[in-house]
Amino acid sequence: MKADLGKTGPSRVVLGLRTLAATFVVLLLSVSTIFLRAQTDCLSCHADKTLQDASGHGVGVDSEKFHSSIHGVLNCTDCHTSIKEYPHPDQPAPVQCATCHADQAKAIGGSVHDGTSPHPCTSCHGDAHSIFPKDNPKSAVYPLNIPRTCGTCHASEALAKKYGLQNVYATYMDSIHGYAVSKEGLLVAANCQSCHGSHNILSHKDAKSTTARVNVPNTCGTCHGGVKDEYSAGVHGKAVAAGNLTAPVCTDCHTAHAILQPTEASFRMQSTPICGSCHKEQLATYRDTFHSQLGLLGGYVETARCWDCHGAHGNLPASDPASPVNKANLIKTCGRCHKDANASFVQYQPHANPHDRKLNPALYFVRLFMNLLLWSTLSFFTLHTLLWFIRAKREQRKSEPAAEEKHD
Ligand code: HEC
Ligand code: HEC
Ligand code: HEC
Ligand code: HEC
Ligand code: HEC
Ligand code: HEC
Ligand code: HEC
Ligand code: HEC
Ligand code: HEC
Ligand code: HEC
Ligand code: HEC
Repeated sequence: MKADLGKTGPSRVVLGLRTLAATFVVLLLSVSTIFLRAQTDCLSCHADKTLQDASGHGVGVDSEKFHSSIHGVLNCTDCHTSIKEYPHPDQPAPVQCATCHADQAKAIGGSVHDGTSPHPCTSCHGDAHSIFPKDNPKSAVYPLNIPRTCGTCHASEALAKKYGLQNVYATYMDSIHGYAVSKEGLLVAANCQSCHGSHNILSHKDAKSTTARVNVPNTCGTCHGGVKDEYSAGVHGKAVAAGNLTAPVCTDCHTAHAILQPTEASFRMQSTPICGSCHKEQLATYRDTFHSQLGLLGGYVETARCWDCHGAHGNLPASDPASPVNKANLIKTCGRCHKDANASFVQYQPHANPHDRKLNPALYFVRLFMNLLLWSTLSFFTLHTLLWFIRAKREQRKSEPAAEEKHD
């Protein structure tokens, strides 16, 4: 037994050493697995929301949000390609969204927004770890969130001033579209992206821009198809399509960001001068008529404005049989408001111009006669007064020496 015991003595030592070695290996192994997991499972450190870098900048990542985001299935290293282990490289390579989204990156590269922010993508898409598909209400580019997203920069007075741009955000929010998007949650109303696009946004001075004058009717027409067809069939639409950019596009009459409901008094009050800003002669003659005088009484009055007679979108020359102001259609056009309109009633000239002898001979001669009368009357009385004055002076001078003689 002793011998046995004795025999086993050294083997026990060996066993003890083996166990120690094994324990050491296990220990070593377990330590290195912790280390290994730390390298691959970035979240073991970064899920700690209080984690900070040396400068106190937070480097925590909301893991729940990240996993529910569109990129939740990706590995951290798919985006952070230069980070393989801890400690990290001093200068990790910036994330390149372009490696997976080449089309969007290329479009941004040629747009007004190229180089306007430190990260070309997150400026609109928000926090890189919580990007959602565009049809998810949590997305920064969900239709109802877009105005606020663009507004992070475009509601800034300082940015507008720096780049010489209008500050359009507040005006848009008060417009019919802004109201529909922000207050009614109407997904189909126009948000910034509907008119400007998303990645390929260009200045309206660029002919390729969706907001370039010549393209505006098509841009608005993607939603307002009926109005666009009407407009395209009229003189204004045809002129613009033929390259005559002095004719009006939608935004000349409606503006781009301050669009009002056209039945509102504030729109109707300003639209007559809008037509008149180009048709100065017709505005001037309209101003002389009863319809306009009525509108000038102060406050809002329902009277005939330019488009009540001419239509708003399919404007045509009076000579065109389809024009509402063609002679053949006047009874119907005036009859909308004047129930008893008949052939003699519509003889009334809404643009009577007393300065034009050929167009309005009667008015021209009446005006000529009235002017002659006025001038001859004025001249007569001026001459009369002058002669009277001279005679009075002469009488006075005659009587003065007589008075002096009396004193002597
Ligand atoms: C052992 C903990 C730990 C692990 C594991 C870890 N990080 Fe970090 N990480 C940090 C700390 C701490 C910082 C703060 C800055 C520093 O110390 O480098 C940081 C910083 C970062 C930064 C910011 C770098 C900068 O300079 O802006 C990124 C990006 C990052 N980690 C990504 C990763 C990725 C990807 C992984 C997985 C491959 C990972 N980290 C794994 C601890 C960790
Ligand atoms: C879709 C790409 C993408 C994925 C996936 C991604 N990140 Fe990021 N991460 C970014 C971008 C973009 C930034 C902003 C800094 C930059 O541009 O490099 C960023 C920044 C960071 C920062 C610095 C935090 C800060 O505010 O400066 C950390 C830390 C970080 N990521 C960790 C992670 C971790 C951990 C994972 C995996 C759970 C992860 N990231 C997955 C794109 C990504
Ligand atoms: C000026 C703001 C803005 C910037 C900057 C921006 N995006 Fe977008 N992005 C949007 C908007 C708005 C949408 C939604 C488009 C829509 O509803 O059709 C969108 C949609 C997307 C989509 C969905 C597919 C698509 O094209 O509609 C991807 C992918 C995308 N962006 C990636 C990127 C990448 C990558 C970058 C950087 C290169 C980037 N975006 C920069 C505004 C922006
Ligand atoms: C490693 C490849 C990869 C990188 C890098 C990457 N993405 Fe993605 N992204 C995807 C995949 C995959 C999808 C889901 C499929 C899809 O809808 O295109 C996606 C989807 C998106 C969507 C939602 C598309 C939609 O339908 O509305 C947006 C927005 C987006 N990514 C933006 C970004 C931005 C911003 C970055 C950079 C911070 C980025 N991605 C970096 C692979 C990537
Ligand atoms: C990170 C800030 C930022 C965000 C977010 C942003 N913009 Fe801009 N945007 C700018 C800056 C800066 C300019 C001026 C660029 C220049 O003139 O060089 C600009 C220019 C423009 C212009 C061109 C104006 C002109 O005629 O020259 C339009 C249009 C525009 N942005 C629309 C948008 C829309 C729509 C969105 C949202 C989808 C948006 N922007 C989001 C910063 C931003
Ligand atoms: C209904 C269409 C429409 C909508 C919606 C719209 N815009 Fe515009 N925007 C235009 C048009 C058209 C122009 C071209 C210039 C003009 O007619 O005023 C323009 C011009 C601009 C300009 C340049 C102004 C300048 O001074 O040159 C900026 C910046 C701009 N828009 C940003 C936005 C932003 C941000 C939003 C959302 C909050 C928005 N737009 C919504 C149609 C629109
Ligand atoms: C994305 C689709 C879309 C685009 C693009 C669009 N609109 Fe609209 N617009 C709407 C919707 C939807 C309404 C109805 C809003 C409501 O009733 O609350 C509306 C309302 C209007 C109204 C008020 C009259 C009415 O019928 O309610 C006018 C005027 C108008 N838009 C003009 C324009 C002009 C001008 C443009 C181009 C510069 C334009 N819209 C571009 C969708 C659009
Ligand atoms: C020459 C000025 C002018 C132009 C150009 C113009 N509009 Fe109008 N628009 C008006 C007037 C005026 C009204 C009000 C009509 C009324 O109350 O009878 C109106 C009404 C509307 C309405 C309300 C619905 C309706 O049919 O009355 C919409 C929507 C509209 N316009 C969109 C557009 C779009 C889109 C374009 C470009 C394709 C456009 N407009 C071009 C002057 C104009
Ligand atoms: C931006 C300037 C502009 C505005 C605003 C404008 N027009 Fe015109 N209009 C034109 C031009 C230019 C033509 C000639 C088009 C052509 O035939 O080439 C024209 C033609 C016409 C014609 C046909 C006359 C003819 O001699 O052929 C009528 C009628 C007309 N406009 C009515 C209106 C009415 C009504 C409004 C307001 C609702 C209006 N216009 C607003 C520029 C304008
Ligand atoms: C009460 C109805 C009425 C109103 C209001 C009215 N017009 Fe007219 N307009 C007519 C009639 C009728 C004609 C054709 C006879 C004529 O030239 O006097 C005409 C002719 C015109 C023409 C010339 C068309 C051509 O083919 O020669 C233009 C341009 C015009 N109007 C613009 C305007 C503008 C701009 C306004 C608003 C400032 C306006 N009209 C207000 C009824 C009206
Ligand atoms: C949008 C409605 C409207 C249209 C269209 C309209 N008018 Fe009027 N008009 C009025 C109103 C309102 C008055 C003032 C109240 C009144 O006397 O009936 C008026 C007054 C007049 C007057 C002076 C008062 C009178 O009744 O004798 C004449 C003349 C007149 N209109 C002629 C016309 C002619 C001609 C047309 C067609 C070319 C026309 N109007 C189209 C609304 C309209």
